[in-house]
Amino acid sequence: MKKNKISKNWIRNQKKDIFVRQSKVEGYRSRAVYKLIEIDKKFNILKNGISIVDLGSAPGSWSQYISKNFKNIKLVSIDLKEMDEIDNTYQIMGDFNNSEYQKKIKDYFKSKVDVVLSDMAENTTGNKNVDVISTSELCKEALIFSKDILKENGSFVCKIFMGSTFDEIMKESKEIFKQIKVFKPSSSKKGSKESFIICKFLR
Ligand SMILES: C[S@@+](CC[C@H](N)C(=O)[O-])C[C@H]1O[C@@H](n2cnc3c(N)ncnc32)[C@H](O)[C@@H]1O
Repeated sequence: MKKNKISKNWIRNQKKDIFVRQSKVEGYRSRAVYKLIEIDKKFNILKNGISIVDLGSAPGSWSQYISKNFKNIKLVSIDLKEMDEIDNTYQIMGDFNNSEYQKKIKDYFKSKVDVVLSDMAENTTGNKNVDVISTSELCKEALIFSKDILKENGSFVCKIFMGSTFDEIMKESKEIFKQIKVFKPSSSKKGSKESFIICKFLR
């Protein structure tokens, strides 16, 4: 399909998408917020008074939701892209894979945190296997980081793409966490390989 045909289809689909419409009405920057809301409703991740890291945060709907709905939280967000300001959020623009930025996050908290969220994904290439692999590399980096920064009873939520790397991700998650669930929110597009792992309690 030609590029301008793809983008016309994309615009048409966005207009039809009820989650896009709902996010506009409710003032969220992205439909992605409804995935976090569904995950939280099912797995009870977010609470008042906790510390949270939001990896791959731009344009910012997850951080917006947390900042709006929870009191006395300590929230750090990081993305490669610049993000408009969000209340009560320490925002970092940078590559999470770079240890300098991981140190910046740890230095900010100075102690272990309650929750690490990762919605990180690279721009899709059109080659599904390449996309599966690049997203799973981001997930693995976030897993290692979580092991280091989370409290013993902390939670880790991470986007994955279902495919060739699934068994490897599950194996690595099980080495770090006691409880792992896989969940595809209904707001995650049906045709997409996207899903989430919800991991709790460090080993
Ligand atoms: C699906 S979007 C996240 C949407 C976000 N949860 C929201 O609610 O607005 C994925 C994001 O991951 C970011 N990302 C990908 N690789 C990254 C990396 N190495 N470091 C930081 N962010 C990264 C992308 O820039 C992109 O903004």
